[in-house]
Order: sequence, then structure tokens, then C-alpha cells
Amino acid sequence: MIQDAIYDRGVIARYRPYLPVASSVQAVSLNEGSTPLVYSPKLSSKVGRGARVFIKYEGLNPTCSFKDRGMTVAITKAVEAGAAAVICASTGNTSAAAAAYAARAGIPCVVLLPKGKIATGKLLQAYAYGARVIAVNGNFDDALRLVRESAGDGLAIVNSVNPHRIEGQKTAAFEIIETLGDAPDLHILPLGNAGNITAYWKGYTEYAQLGRARRLPKMLGIQAAGAAPVYFGRVIEKPDTCATAIRIGNPASWDGAAAALRESSGAVEIVADDEILAAQAWLAREEGIFAEPASAASVAGLMKCLEGNRCAACPFGKILDEAVIVLTITGHGLKDPDIAGRFVSDLISIEPSLTELRKHLD
Ligand SMILES: Cc1ncc(COP(=O)(O)O)c(C=O)c1O
Repeated sequence: MIQDAIYDRGVIARYRPYLPVASSVQAVSLNEGSTPLVYSPKLSSKVGRGARVFIKYEGLNPTCSFKDRGMTVAITKAVEAGAAAVICASTGNTSAAAAAYAARAGIPCVVLLPKGKIATGKLLQAYAYGARVIAVNGNFDDALRLVRESAGDGLAIVNSVNPHRIEGQKTAAFEIIETLGDAPDLHILPLGNAGNITAYWKGYTEYAQLGRARRLPKMLGIQAAGAAPVYFGRVIEKPDTCATAIRIGNPASWDGAAAALRESSGAVEIVADDEILAAQAWLAREEGIFAEPASAASVAGLMKCLEGNRCAACPFGKILDEAVIVLTITGHGLKDPDIAGRFVSDLISIEPSLTELRKHLD
């Protein structure tokens, strides 16, 4: 039996009994998870009616996105199964996480990315961790199809079509319940390939079945208007949004998302790119939390619902006074320096003199 070392407080060390990882198996871990649930006073007062809004800041994982939770389990299982290498298609964050955990495990990692549609920080991460990076002339859905066709022969797929990824990712819901003492009333998160909404719902329902939570949240998935297959109920052939992490036209876990939305009496909403970018700036400047564009979609979605122009199915209209609302910020703002570059347009430059400095201090 493997003793999880006292210095390993990662997802497997903390939740092994709830994960498909036997006690004899050594975890491939970077101490992921345990991310802060940050109270947001300004979002709370925007919602009003005594609501409390919290942000699950998943950008503070080891590779700066929520993907690390699933990847620790997927790579641990791949190593246990004797995989010679791992492969994934990615809008960027999966590749960063896969590359890091494969490096940790000492096995090669191949990542397939939609050419020209990857945020610079994520691409740099994949290279830094030593992955073989292959750009596909197509979108994420094309890359995932290729990955699925290539699997076998010792090559393990570590996309969220791998159920071990969902298992690891569900631990974010465990942590939220442990911090709040119960599940929230409403959980808002960006929806791309739909693995994360599937995972959160699994986590919430499992903990409720174990008596760790008394209620279940309504799930509200947010898609970018130009990449909203679940919202429109059809595959989008050419998805387009500045939020590259959710630029997906045919989600692999569509069924999981549909189940989470149906069973939780939730809904899916869309936000325009300008709403996403405005929400990214607002969150950084008003709450000190820097989110990548896909993650800011959660905040944009909440704001849209508050404005009263929400869809008829919106669970927000049905939540009670003093509701507890959680938003997942799935990835760190530094992941996408090109989009964030617009924040530095008013750079002030001076000579190193106090007189010069004082001109700018009023
Ligand atoms: C930052 C970020 N947010 C949201 C998502 C969407 O998650 P899912 O594809 O599990 O729906 C992704 C997926 O890559 C992501 O990287």
C-alpha cells in the first residue's frame, strides 16, 4: 500500500477513496486542487437580495487551470496501465496540464492544437514541459477526432473523453461543499467541451448521496455566442470566439452537460465576446482576480442574468433570497497575454527622478 506522503496534498492524496485509484498505486501529483473559494463582495452586492457570491479560483492550480485536477488521475491511470506515451487534443489548457503531468511521470506527451487558435501562454507551457506540439489545420473538434483515431498501441488519450479526467475534476465540487458546509444554490461555469460541467455535477451528486451536502445546485453553463452548440442545440461547424478555450462546436461530453442541466433544473446561456472582455476587465479591476477570457464568461453570464435579459429557462430567476452562488474561474488571465495586452495601452514612462514621478502621483 502506498502512503500518500505528508507533503503530497494533491487531489488523489485527499480524495483517494472517491477516485478510481487503488491504494497500491503511486499518484502522479503536483499538489493540485485546494484552490481558494474567494468571497466576492461586489458581485454579491450586484446580485442583492442578501446573496453571497463566491469565486472558485482554479487559475491557482499548478499549471494555472482546473485541468490539473483531472490530469493527475488520468496520468496516474495511464502510468498504471503501462502507457508508453499520452496524447491529447487541446484548446490549450489540457495540453499544458498533460505536458506537465507527463513530465512528472517521465513519459512522452503529444499535443494536437488547432493552428493559430491557442493562447500564447498555454503554447509556451506545452513547449516548456517538453511536449511534442503538433498544429492541426482545423479546429479543436478536428484535432480531437484525430486523437481518437490515433489511440491504442500504448498511446493513452488524456482528453476529458477519458473518464478518469472527469473523476479528478469532480473534486472541485467536493472542496466547495467542504468550504461552504453545503452545496451552493447556483453554480455558474463556462461550457466548452462540457467535461467540467459533467464533473461538477458528478461531484455534487456524489457528496449529496454520501450525506455531505443537503442540497444540489442549479447548474448554469455559459457559452460564447459564436461557439454555442449546446445553447443552439446543434453542432457549430465553424465556432468562433476570442475565448479560445471554449471555441468548440461539438462538445464531446454533450450528453453529460445535458444531464447536468436537466437534472439540476439548470440552463445554458450565451454571452458575446465584448461582454466576456468587459467581464474580464471588471473582475480584475473590481475584485483583483485575473481570469482568462473563457473563465470571464462565468462573470459575463452572471451579469447578463442580472440585467434582466436572461433566457426563460434561466435558473437565476428562480433562486431564493440569500442565495449562495459559486462561479468557477477556470484559468488564469496570464494564460492569454495577447488578449490581456489591451490593459497596458496607457503605459506611463518617466526618467528616474522624483520630480518626474510626482507629476504622475495626483
Ligand atoms: C479556461 C477554460 N475554461 C473553460 C473550459 C471549458 O471546459 P470544458 O471543455 O470542460 O467544458 C476550458 C476547456 O478547455 C478551459 O480551458
